[in-house]
Amino acid sequence: MAQVKLQNINKIYKNGYHAVHDFCLDIKDGEFMVLVGPSGCAKSTTLRMIAGLESITSGDLHIGDKHCNSVLPKDRGIAMVFQNYALYPHMTVRQNLAFGLETRKKSKEEIHRRVTEAAELLEITELLDRKPGQMSGGQCQRVALGRAMVRKPEVFLFDEPLSNLDAKLRVSMRMRISRLHDELKQSGKPATMIYVTHDQVEALTMGDRICVLNRGAIMQVDTPMNLYHKPVNKFVAEFIGSPTMNMLEGKLIKTESNKMAVEVDGHLFELPEAKQARAEQYNSHEVFLGLRPEHINIGEASNSCEAKITEVEEMGSESFVYLNFAGKQLICKYVNPDIALCKQSMHQIYFNMDKCHIFDRSTEENIFIPTE
Ligand SMILES: Nc1ncnc2c1ncn2[C@@H]1O[C@H](COP(=O)(O)OP(=O)(O)OP(=O)(O)O)[C@@H](O)[C@H]1O
Ligand SMILES: [Mg+2]
Repeated sequence: MAQVKLQNINKIYKNGYHAVHDFCLDIKDGEFMVLVGPSGCAKSTTLRMIAGLESITSGDLHIGDKHCNSVLPKDRGIAMVFQNYALYPHMTVRQNLAFGLETRKKSKEEIHRRVTEAAELLEITELLDRKPGQMSGGQCQRVALGRAMVRKPEVFLFDEPLSNLDAKLRVSMRMRISRLHDELKQSGKPATMIYVTHDQVEALTMGDRICVLNRGAIMQVDTPMNLYHKPVNKFVAEFIGSPTMNMLEGKLIKTESNKMAVEVDGHLFELPEAKQARAEQYNSHEVFLGLRPEHINIGEASNSCEAKITEVEEMGSESFVYLNFAGKQLICKYVNPDIALCKQSMHQIYFNMDKCHIFDRSTEENIFIPTE
């Protein structure tokens, strides 16, 4: 059993910098948990505290049932994969894979079996006699993953393992890591995986759950779908999803027909029935109206308004259309290839208000969560 439990963990570096604030997270046995957030939000610091490479200033870390704050890294049942592979350059792949097992005094047969098994799974058998300098970045990263695998750890820790690879390799490696997680689960020996990335696409595609961090504090821990559809605050809403969620400054008001609406620059956008009651509690509040690019449409509807197209990015199956509305740039995803959109032309646009998010401007919290 290797659940990982962080209770009120704080990290204050020697220079006084408070990097991690009251971090509480329960990672289940066999779960794939992704830590995601912008550069400097303390993803690596948190992971390194779990690994034992960084001391914990206060709070409690449990791996399995064991209190691990002062347990040596080698005794924590973990293996870590880094961004820069950290392979021994003078050793062959085979020696790199075997090294950790040799220091653990495993038998020759067992080492051979484990190395062969991992090499086959990662398709690096033909590279076993090469040295790191004779391989591509993707191949080195597979060896680094293999080196973690042969140790059969209960917990895998990954710190941006794919960020040195090109886009195509990243996709294939991320599928390989997900497959490894699935295969271990199916074989009845699930491994807990904690994966750090600043790439929200990696986070959304790999994680059972994702923990979004900002400035050393947890913003939201949730499934990929919930993060996308139910972000608890403006930070999560803007961090998850690409292109990012559009944010318009507005005010909640009650219309003459007694309905709650968001007023943006003199335009009224009425909220759907399901959002009325909650919005009423925020009558007269200054808010952000959040709309994903796929929820802004070009065309006429009852709440349409005029916007100017400033840029069109053709992505193949869809286009990203940049619009100027109320002095603000909006991005919409557009999938109708029949209508040509020209730069600088004026168009009617409308918002899918059923899907809108509203954030209180002072707290930046989503007013519809968790009550919705
Ligand atoms: N040894 C240290 N002493 C003081 N401050 C540190 C130390 N190491 C990191 N920090 C600071 O702690 C914060 C978190 O750093 P950390 O490396 O954990 O961020 P990160 O989320 O992994 O960022 P990145 O995505 O760039 O890797 C940063 O502001 C960083 O400058
Ligand atoms: Mg980092």
